[in-house]
Amino acid sequence: MWPYPEIVAHRGGGALAPENTIAALRCGLAYGFHAVEFDVMLAGDGIPVVLHDEMLGRTVAGNGKVPDFTAADLMRMDAGAWFSPAFAGETVPSYAQVFHFCLAHGIWMNVEIKPAPGFETATGRTVAALTAQWLADAAAGVAAGVAGASGRPDAAALASGWPAPLLSSFSHDALLAAQAAAPGLARACLFDVVPDDWRQRLAEVGAVALHTNHEKLTPQLAAAVKAAGYGLFCYTVNEPARAREIRVWGVDAFCTDRIDLIGADFR
Ligand code: G3P
Ligand code: MG
Repeated sequence: MWPYPEIVAHRGGGALAPENTIAALRCGLAYGFHAVEFDVMLAGDGIPVVLHDEMLGRTVAGNGKVPDFTAADLMRMDAGAWFSPAFAGETVPSYAQVFHFCLAHGIWMNVEIKPAPGFETATGRTVAALTAQWLADAAAGVAAGVAGASGRPDAAALASGWPAPLLSSFSHDALLAAQAAAPGLARACLFDVVPDDWRQRLAEVGAVALHTNHEKLTPQLAAAVKAAGYGLFCYTVNEPARAREIRVWGVDAFCTDRIDLIGADFR
């Protein structure tokens, strides 16, 4: 059984807000989404930030590569103006900021570990270790009874049955490192095209799910993944008719850019 939300806002707020920003998370909330996918990369000082591209310039006003900058540098850079003037001043968030925003608002996270080339192991290890630490901190708040009274909305969310994040990655090495650093966190293998040896790949990293490009999924493959006992998640499904079709194939969940067309309660 798929224990997570079934409709997930891609990169925070899909196509309605600048990707991978706190503004995107707020936009998703405004559309009723309490489930989000976002991308996490290490800055040059090893601190994870929420960004999709290794190269600056597309969504972030800057030149160069993410590993060339500290997290503090990146967190001063504009990540909203490219989308629209209304979002100018929105900056690159740290993973810590996004994680705690989501926990505070009861938003479930599919954390995509997105290493810059050469940083696969470090990114997987860091993201998993921090995620486990922050979850433990929140749980300790619950155990100590500090939820609410001490201004710990994260602990309150955890106490209310919020499902723990699911870590996913296209990088096998990142998933292996995540497994070693925090074996108790759920992992998923991400594939554009699902390779023939997907069973072995999922087994090697102890994955609970396979995430893939819906455009390359077939009903036969979907059936095989489900028959093998794995969760099946697709990206990025933007047409309601297609969403209904792949659900019939057994797809458990998907992310979408069209949070305006495909609501969190889509059927
Ligand atoms: O995690 C699913 C999806 O986000 C993977 O592709 O390029 O949007 O990160 P991308
Ligand atoms: Mg992604």
